[in-house]
Amino acid sequence: MDPNVVAKLESGWCSLASSGSKSLIKKYLTKEVLEDLKRQKTSFGSTLLDCVRSGFEHHDSGVGIYAPDAEAYTVFAPIFDPIIEDYHKGFKPTDIHPAQDWGDVNALGNLDGENKYVISTRVRCARSLVGYPFNPLLTEVQYKDIEEKVSSTLDGLAGDLKGEFYPLTDMSKEVQQKLIDDHFLFKEGDRFLQAANASRFWPTGRGIFHNRDKTFLVWCNEEDHLRLISMQMGGNLGEVYKRLVTAVNDVEKTLAFSHHDRLGFLTFCPTNLGTTIRASVHIQLPKLAANKAKLEEVAAKYSLQVRGTRGEHTDAEGGVYDISNKRRMGLTEYQAVKEMYDGIKELIKIEKQS
Ligand code: ADP
Ligand code: ARG
Repeated sequence: MDPNVVAKLESGWCSLASSGSKSLIKKYLTKEVLEDLKRQKTSFGSTLLDCVRSGFEHHDSGVGIYAPDAEAYTVFAPIFDPIIEDYHKGFKPTDIHPAQDWGDVNALGNLDGENKYVISTRVRCARSLVGYPFNPLLTEVQYKDIEEKVSSTLDGLAGDLKGEFYPLTDMSKEVQQKLIDDHFLFKEGDRFLQAANASRFWPTGRGIFHNRDKTFLVWCNEEDHLRLISMQMGGNLGEVYKRLVTAVNDVEKTLAFSHHDRLGFLTFCPTNLGTTIRASVHIQLPKLAANKAKLEEVAAKYSLQVRGTRGEHTDAEGGVYDISNKRRMGLTEYQAVKEMYDGIKELIKIEKQS
């Protein structure tokens, strides 16, 4: 083990431990866990330092840890397990994530029949390709390989899902910014990902696929190898969900995705494991949101997470919040989306009564 790695782990830990950070990494990386793991390595050569770089650099992280490769979840289980249990609301080290189950895709309806509160609805999931490590270990050639595999698979989609792949390398800054502003494309320069060594060779291998109406989109090689997204204006969660399920089933016929017996689908960040599902609405709840702390408190009661208008780590603009299911593990795909459906229905009810 490189003594430099151990020294960096020790000094980074001291500085985090004496900080006011509210991150899960600070909460669970005790001196004992550090001692236990500081000399461990995965067979890919990843160390604990590779997992915690982002949380050590950014004390304002909410979580602060990523898995540089799939094996890290096992080798560094004493730190990943408690963080997983905390984030996913009680998914214990002895729990097993259920098998993929999309349920009855016709069972979900419209969240807001009056069209008064919900501006738009989006459901995304993440996938990693079998045979490739996560971001920090990918070579430039592997980034291009993944892009080629993903874009040629998506080329084969038909009907409503038919669309085109746009590599970031060929995209003008204006087009890129417009796609970001319209909530279709990932932002550039995420400092949490950069610190985790997840933005190497940018923009090589990164890109976006979308159908004509921009209701089905795929992000390539941003935080995860793939992010599959279904979205549209209004509150028709049923339509959005059905489109995502059709697309994932189609893509799965060609691409093999990394899956773990206990953890479900594997992702770079432990917050996204399991179903990998984030079902969200852009919603305006002026009365409830008059007190942000109250909104957060009520949302948490229904296991929902509140984000800003431009997604994670952003503020609300014009009173528009992004509210989604928080946990993604220990429940099925259908249950994760239903958790958001039921919670949003309740929030709308409370808004009406306020
Ligand atoms: P992710 O959803 O992949 O975890 P972010 O929180 O960064 O990542 O969100 C990605 C983008 O998706 C942002 O531009 C965000 O505004 C947009 N977004 C999320 N939910 C919705 C929604 N319901 N309607 C429209 N845009 C959305
Ligand atoms: N590492 C960041 C933090 O701790 C993001 C965590 C969850 N979000 C994500 N996009 N993986 O705040």
